[in-house]
Amino acid sequence: MHTANFLSEKTNYYLELENKYGAHNYHPLPVVLKKGLGVHLWDVDDKRYYDFLSGYSAVNQGHCHPKIIDALKSQAEVLTLTSRAFHNNLLGEYEQYITSYFGYDKVLPMNTGVEGGETAIKLARRWGYQVKGVEKNKAKILFAEGNFWGRTMAAISSSTDPSSYNNFGPFMPGFELVPYNDLVSLEKALQDKNVAAFMFEPIQGEAGVVVPDEGYIAGVRKLCSEYNVLMIADEIQTGLARTGKMLACDHENIKPDILILGKALSGGTLPISAVLCNDDIMLTIKPGEHGSTYGGNPLACQVAMAALQVLKDEKMAENAAEMGLFFRDELQKIQSTFISCIRGRGLLNAIVIEHKNPEAAWDLCLELKEQGLLAKPTHGDKIRFAPPLMITKEQIQDSISIIKQSLSILQS
Ligand SMILES: Cc1ncc(COP(=O)(O)O)c(C=O)c1O
Repeated sequence: MHTANFLSEKTNYYLELENKYGAHNYHPLPVVLKKGLGVHLWDVDDKRYYDFLSGYSAVNQGHCHPKIIDALKSQAEVLTLTSRAFHNNLLGEYEQYITSYFGYDKVLPMNTGVEGGETAIKLARRWGYQVKGVEKNKAKILFAEGNFWGRTMAAISSSTDPSSYNNFGPFMPGFELVPYNDLVSLEKALQDKNVAAFMFEPIQGEAGVVVPDEGYIAGVRKLCSEYNVLMIADEIQTGLARTGKMLACDHENIKPDILILGKALSGGTLPISAVLCNDDIMLTIKPGEHGSTYGGNPLACQVAMAALQVLKDEKMAENAAEMGLFFRDELQKIQSTFISCIRGRGLLNAIVIEHKNPEAAWDLCLELKEQGLLAKPTHGDKIRFAPPLMITKEQIQDSISIIKQSLSILQS
């Protein structure tokens, strides 16, 4: 069905190495990358591609952004890690910077996104016992069906995707699910006085860019306040300008009680995540009760400040909003019978491929790669299109031509 996917000798060399010596826990597209700059990536044969995944939205600021790389290099030469056994001269400044950036009293710095999620849940349980008065060990956390927040035991315990949880049990107790984008079911679940928090993504990224109805985020806020339950927004993928606002919750002018950030907090240079909330929640965790060796290290603090500053200085949210609208409009104009749905916000977009061949989305991604654009299917039939946020109109036009051209390999 697709044009022959020729793999060079060099590419095969690297694929074979990974296959032989690495765990088989991913199914990547057969492309081996060696360089990135802005919206572009280059493979080991020097072929250039548009990056339409942006490291799952970790590279919002573009590959190797000079200001972020400068911050990384200069700090790496001075001090990288002290552990939290001692203070360092950047942690306080970073904490002040990020809390005033997002308007919270405090931040708890972690590394990967999933650690941010774990931290938010620990905070919510602790708040449940100490502030809300939930009976010991009875706290419940609600999640939305279709959620994705990582691969730890807690994260997969709330997953509805069998490929995440199958044969990894037993699972974490105290987690319950409600359908996404369904305020009636949420309200029903909130009647349980043991519920401490509802954790959700304002747009479900890994589920295939599922955008809830307008008013859902505000509805979640209202219900959580009404039932004295914490609203936890997982903005690890949607946050940091990706959807056309600094946070996806900003589209409805909503402030969650706990905000989790990750990915683009480092512009794709190292794992940095952050959990933000006010004192009534954050100060329920006392010294020695939570932490991480790398969390809050001076290298991460310096890089995160640069990554956040770049988003503002270069008006990346504004560009994401404008380019996102343009991109979706241009996609509509292609009028392919194989695209059953185009959805998204800002530059977090997806198409759903409708085709008798269940491999059609994969085949299309292989062809896109041949034509010079990298994207990856999620859940079989959905392809996410999420380029770095400084993409220009001309680059979008060029990418649309590639997508249009590649679609022609799908036959009915
Ligand atoms: C919404 C969301 N939360 C959490 C995570 C987990 O982040 P990490 O892979 O850095 O642990 C992801 C990763 O894709 C995500 O999309």
